[in-house]
Amino acid sequence: MSAPSMLASETERRTARVLTGDRPTGPMHLGHYFGTLANRVELQRAGHDVLVVVADYQVIADRDHPDDIARVVSDIVLDYFACGLDPDHTTIFAHSAVPALHQLMLPFLSLVGMGELSRNPTIKDEIRLAGRSSVSGLMTTYPVHQAADVLFCKADLVPVGRDQLPHLELTRSIARRFNERYAPVFPIPDALLGNAPLLLGLDGRKMSKSLGNGIALRDSDDQIAAKVRAARTDAMRLITFEPDRRPEVANLVRIAALCAGRDPVALADEIGAGGAAALKALVVDSVSAFLAPIRERRASYDEADARRVLERSARRARGLADETLDEVRAAMGMVYG
Ligand code: TRP
Repeated sequence: MSAPSMLASETERRTARVLTGDRPTGPMHLGHYFGTLANRVELQRAGHDVLVVVADYQVIADRDHPDDIARVVSDIVLDYFACGLDPDHTTIFAHSAVPALHQLMLPFLSLVGMGELSRNPTIKDEIRLAGRSSVSGLMTTYPVHQAADVLFCKADLVPVGRDQLPHLELTRSIARRFNERYAPVFPIPDALLGNAPLLLGLDGRKMSKSLGNGIALRDSDDQIAAKVRAARTDAMRLITFEPDRRPEVANLVRIAALCAGRDPVALADEIGAGGAAALKALVVDSVSAFLAPIRERRASYDEADARRVLERSARRARGLADETLDEVRAAMGMVYG
């Protein structure tokens, strides 16, 4: 074996194909940053092939209109750039721009039982949160669609928050079942969990784009201050870090600690009898200092940059999806002429 080809196979062995994504329902927030965005940037720096899908079809799972979707999508892409995702190294695309990806949904649906879908705890939570009188077919089946997001490019690794683990488990089952029933087409992807715990929103519920209870990466210092000032705390003056007993206070401590790169227990000790006012002041300072450079990087791009990247990346994604769909149809014997 010649030296260059040894090098090539070595590189191939060490770098993974990584796919992850977001539902474009609003701006990215601190929970996303610590839960998954920071991880993505690390993976990109390590030289892995990172693809990020902006899952625009997922938006209509639990709402009537994808309001202003094109702008929401390019804003999210700008959030990615702001966090350090480099469009020259990372493939960022909207899944509606990749038709062949969606065709994988049909064979995948045939591999999944309705019971499995209705037991999915994340869907159950989302249905409860949506508070609607009826549940759409897309709402119950979108995890199967999400399996297509992951499998169309034969991803090895899927960086996700904890709430997405049931979906990843389903993706793994679908890949295994397809391989067993037809032919070994799909690698079985692994989840990659960020090491940050789930952040709560400032109202004590899960920090969520759709609930609008988070600190967005693009919030100004004034917006940060107003949100933190209005955040829920409790009546006890002494600040401690006790996530189970005092979730709201612990969450604020946690946010400050993550932004300042500090240990939450030490930080809570330091505030001690300073109470909620001192805690909130510290949160405002550490979040503002943390977000300033991110906001600055965001300002060096504009919407046209985001759209250019979406278009270029979609071309690559379409190539991968076409190849996989060809293999899938061949495995199923659906090749004519
Ligand atoms: N459902 C994911 C979320 O709400 C977003 C998503 C869509 C995703 N497609 C994906 C995540 C594929 C990982 C892999 O966060």
